[in-house]
Amino acid sequence: MSPVGLRASATAPAKTNLALHVGDPTPDGYHPLETLFIAVDVRETVTAAINTHVARRGSGVAVTVSPAPGSEYAEMIQSGAARLSDIPLDDSNLAVRAALAVCAAHGGNPGIELRIDKAVPVAGGMGGGSADAAAALVAVDALLAKHLDQPRLGNHRLMSLGADLGADVPFMNLGGMAEGRGKGDDLRAVESTNQLHLVFVPQDQGLSTPAVFREWDRASRGTQVQVASAQPNPLNPALVRAAAAGDAPGVATWVRNDLQSPALELLPELATLLNHGVDLGALAGWISGSGPTVCFLAESADAAEDLVKGLRREHRHAFSTSGPVEGAQLIPEWGTI
Ligand code: C5P
Repeated sequence: MSPVGLRASATAPAKTNLALHVGDPTPDGYHPLETLFIAVDVRETVTAAINTHVARRGSGVAVTVSPAPGSEYAEMIQSGAARLSDIPLDDSNLAVRAALAVCAAHGGNPGIELRIDKAVPVAGGMGGGSADAAAALVAVDALLAKHLDQPRLGNHRLMSLGADLGADVPFMNLGGMAEGRGKGDDLRAVESTNQLHLVFVPQDQGLSTPAVFREWDRASRGTQVQVASAQPNPLNPALVRAAAAGDAPGVATWVRNDLQSPALELLPELATLLNHGVDLGALAGWISGSGPTVCFLAESADAAEDLVKGLRREHRHAFSTSGPVEGAQLIPEWGTI
């Protein structure tokens, strides 16, 4: 980090989808969704610092990425099972784009250096890139407000900037549990009273979200008579009620991801893992988002830990977590370095 000026850090959660219903693509290529998001307690950290040297280079925002110390993902990187080199470090990086959007909204870019501590698998279906963007929005907003002596843009404005960056970004700012419609960015918060306990099993290789949607399109063309564009199936109220109540058996009964079969088409070996997790005691297993990370639902925190132990005995990478948790948050410490 630069020896010049202020810094601010923010964290943002990963997510999975307890329901993901997909309709036919609209002319912009996006698919209308009906989804139930849950934010889970695996967090990306983004630190933003003013660096006037960076102001003179390229867009004026630079980024570095490191494994989050102590995370399962750091172990995966150390063992060669995951690579941070898949993350772009140019202006196509979602956190850089987020920083640039916040600079434009504040009307100034003094030069910003971002550091991302990654705990969420890359291209895993857990929204890691979107979490980086959400955390960058919050950190850079706080940084620039202080530096330029302006009010912060605030969460509402940041969420609308986030919607232009990616379909999942606004949810990473909102957090908790939410119904998502449209591209996934038209959100309605769902109040929840209890935690769900989940186990994630990241995979050595990523899946490209557009490729999984394309596979969905290919398969649905074969099975549907195309009279009019199909809308996504509405969310099941029984699922939303169970999720809000933290009723794990209820969620296990109703969880549904339309992108699971296209993801399994692309990586068929995941089907065995899904069944195996249930044999080891999970209430249900599904592909997280567009995959390939596999998510299992456990009856309790202890059951989730037992499942992690069982999976690790078989030399798989697995970690337990819970949700819902809060969306992107500023870490309340200020510093000059
Ligand atoms: O918005 P985001 O960049 O996360 O989306 C990545 C890609 O996933 C899009 O370019 C699109 O191909 C696909 N996608 C989609 N429909 C959605 C969300 C994403 O087709 N609702």
